[in-house]
Amino acid sequence: MTIGVGLLGLGTVGAGVASILTNPQGRHPMVADLALRRVAVRDPQRSRPVSLPPGSLVTDPLLVVDDPAVEIVVEVMGGLEPARTLILRAISAGKSVVTANKAVIARHGEEIAAAAAERGVYVLIEAAVGGGIPIIEPLKQSLGGNRIRRVSGIINGTTNYILSRMADDGAGYGEVLAEAQALGYAEADPAADVEGGDAADKIAILAGLAYGGTISRASIATEGIDRLDARDVAYAAKLGFVVKLLAVAEHMGDDAEGGALLDVRVNPTLLPKPHPLAGVNGVNNAILVEGDPVGQVMFYGPGAGAGPTASAVVADILNIAGIHRVSGPQAGLDPLLAASRWRRCSL
Ligand code: NDP
Ligand code: HSE
Repeated sequence: MTIGVGLLGLGTVGAGVASILTNPQGRHPMVADLALRRVAVRDPQRSRPVSLPPGSLVTDPLLVVDDPAVEIVVEVMGGLEPARTLILRAISAGKSVVTANKAVIARHGEEIAAAAAERGVYVLIEAAVGGGIPIIEPLKQSLGGNRIRRVSGIINGTTNYILSRMADDGAGYGEVLAEAQALGYAEADPAADVEGGDAADKIAILAGLAYGGTISRASIATEGIDRLDARDVAYAAKLGFVVKLLAVAEHMGDDAEGGALLDVRVNPTLLPKPHPLAGVNGVNNAILVEGDPVGQVMFYGPGAGAGPTASAVVADILNIAGIHRVSGPQAGLDPLLAASRWRRCSL
């Protein structure tokens, strides 16, 4: 059974996804059942690193979302609008959605989950946090029996790449940021990376899953690495520390009505060299989940870039395609993302 996929965006991530879908050999057999039907971009003249099925490239995203041959819509265009509206339109047309867009999920995740629950479709977001690291599914499912005490980690590849290069060879901030952009790690506006906003979006998503609630994105105390330079990193090293941009969500207790009281923050942090996160370098990310009864679990891997992120996007597509195959396209929302599960969280 062939399942039609439509891509909104063919930049770093979209091209990575298209390259997997159009070269299924040697991958999971179900990849060969996925047909890339339509791809929306802004500039159709731009040269692309992947060959697409003839006639599939369009400039109007509605031609992707509204195409009856597209059953799964993959949103990898970024930004808040039109991404939010297109995701909601796909849902209301009864299509499942895969997105890597943490900015839109951190701000509109509850609205999107509620719309998906009502329409009985899936919205999967594995690529939105940690690039190629499976972290969303483990938090939603495999660790579901735990009371999560803390989720902490390095969840922005661009800033970790910059800090690692500063520590290794004293490279200058601006020079390494330009490299991270050229490698496809940075956001379209890299201020989101270096000012900590991208990590704040991601920790809002992780905390929402870990504590089953909506996290007010605007309440997350956020400080980036934009005021650090190579000297700060060098002084820290002399004292036995490494500087990392950490994102942390910690359960501080419950309020009288049973709502979770959380401390959620993003800030540059001095880590002693033996700390498990201190040796995470380059574009790699790592997330430590501490829970009861599991103890401490660490997830590690490449946190940005075309290949790793496309790997996570395609995992979500396969997940949905597998459900379509067994139960038909309207199998019902992933019960753990249903709005009804969510509870109040205060920061
Ligand atoms: P890019 O800027 O490389 O690509 C964006 C793509 O979307 C481009 O192909 C662009 O077209 C297209 N696009 C943007 N707006 C429109 C529009 N209005 N209509 C039609 N096409 C449009 O972004 P990335 O691939 O880096 O990121 C995409 C998403 O994935 C973002 O949400 C990002 O946060 C997320 N992400 C990125 C990661 C990474 O490592 N880069 C990792 C994890 C998540 P054109 O090519 O013509 O300009
Ligand atoms: N700009 C992001 C990062 C992409 O550097 O981590 C991956 O989400």
